[in-house]
Amino acid sequence: MEFSKVVLADNEIPRQWYNIQADLPTPMRPPLHPGTGKPVGPDDLAPVFPMNLIEQEVSTQRWIDIPEEVLEKYLIWRPSPLCRARNFEKLLNAPVKIYYKNEGVSPPGSHKPNTAVPQAYYNKVFGIKRLSTETGAGQWGSALSMACQMFGLECRVFMVKVSYEQKPYRRLMMGAWGAECIPSPSNRTQAGRKILEADPDCPGSLGIAISEAIEDAVMDPQARYSLGSVLNHVLLHQSIIGLEAQKQFEKIGEYPDVVLGCAGGGSNFAGISLPYVRDKIHGKNVSIVAAEPASCPTLTRGPFAYDFGDTAMTTPLLAMYTLGHDFLPEPIHAGGLRYHGMAPIVSHLAKEGMIEARAFNQLETFSAGVKWARSEGFIPAPETNHVIAAVVQEAERAKQEGKEKVILFNWSGHGIIDLPAYDAFLSGKLVQHELGDEEIKRALKSIEGYPKP
Ligand SMILES: Cc1ncc(COP(=O)(O)O)c(C=O)c1O
Repeated sequence: MEFSKVVLADNEIPRQWYNIQADLPTPMRPPLHPGTGKPVGPDDLAPVFPMNLIEQEVSTQRWIDIPEEVLEKYLIWRPSPLCRARNFEKLLNAPVKIYYKNEGVSPPGSHKPNTAVPQAYYNKVFGIKRLSTETGAGQWGSALSMACQMFGLECRVFMVKVSYEQKPYRRLMMGAWGAECIPSPSNRTQAGRKILEADPDCPGSLGIAISEAIEDAVMDPQARYSLGSVLNHVLLHQSIIGLEAQKQFEKIGEYPDVVLGCAGGGSNFAGISLPYVRDKIHGKNVSIVAAEPASCPTLTRGPFAYDFGDTAMTTPLLAMYTLGHDFLPEPIHAGGLRYHGMAPIVSHLAKEGMIEARAFNQLETFSAGVKWARSEGFIPAPETNHVIAAVVQEAERAKQEGKEKVILFNWSGHGIIDLPAYDAFLSGKLVQHELGDEEIKRALKSIEGYPKP
């Protein structure tokens, strides 16, 4: 009998995270202090993050031990299975084997708790009482709510208003895990009030919600801010996905030709791909592809530039692909992909040609997601549909080229509480949005005159 999934036993879970910063062939540009234009030091970040996480953020140590307390929580759902999508393969009828890491098996239903749990743990150890954060689709907010509950921390979540309205069940999950969830922009912060004065109907964006959450955290000495993507330590924690996949592939004697993930801030894509980027640096022939939305095409249409991570310009300047910090993406259903920037590590790898990016429009992603649901059964999150569209494209290319390919992708989360988005697609209400060059040019004006990386 041919197998359908490869599982690791509890005692085979990786005990260290992988830090790509130890292996980069060229150095990354440092984050800059917007006032001085000089690289930021750990002390500049201290009001926002606990020092133990700041140390991870700047670390160049290749392997970082996963604390026992974190492993114990990971074991609730990890190691996640490596599955073979045989039914989807049949449907596509191409010379490909398709494997995926199912990150939808976590309690909140996505990859997000892989970093939420260690972030809550390190804050707790540092003596912090409350975490403040933002959330797009609600996946991150729900993951951090659960993680805070696990370690006895309070949690406040600023949720992008359009998602707050479209996705009530995620905020209900946050409530079930004991967190407070506030639609953003809100009048709780100066950043939110300023936006609401200019546009009372503003649908919100991740950039705005980040500004609110940071402001909320720095005003309270007992609180710190927590980010669900973009930063180096987040990508570090997510590396457990790719490390498990490598162990699982070893068991079946296979190696992927292509590794793919969808990219919002870059964390699940990095999580599955960074251990493979390491192999690539050491000579392996593997393609690594990020799938992003055509209505927020950071890697495919943005410049590599210094920009703020948030709309209110409170973060350090990060060297990344960006559409400009006041770029307001269309309210597409994949709320978790509506971010103007991209993780500096992912951006650096794209700039160096180690990874490539492709953009997909909302309709083709849902069409791919529905094909998946009708063959493999699991209903993917709207964000995950982007990578599934990229897998369909890879399979078509393999068919045209007459080449056999082993595909590995990250199934970043399930969509069973995103069903209104499927309803909109199936009833023909979901629209195709074309993003004009003018719109991008206008948003990029906000970073004119910034230091050049
Ligand atoms: C299921 C799912 N996939 C992907 C993403 C995108 O985030 P990232 O690029 O950090 O993985 C999100 C964000 O909320 C998500 O919920």
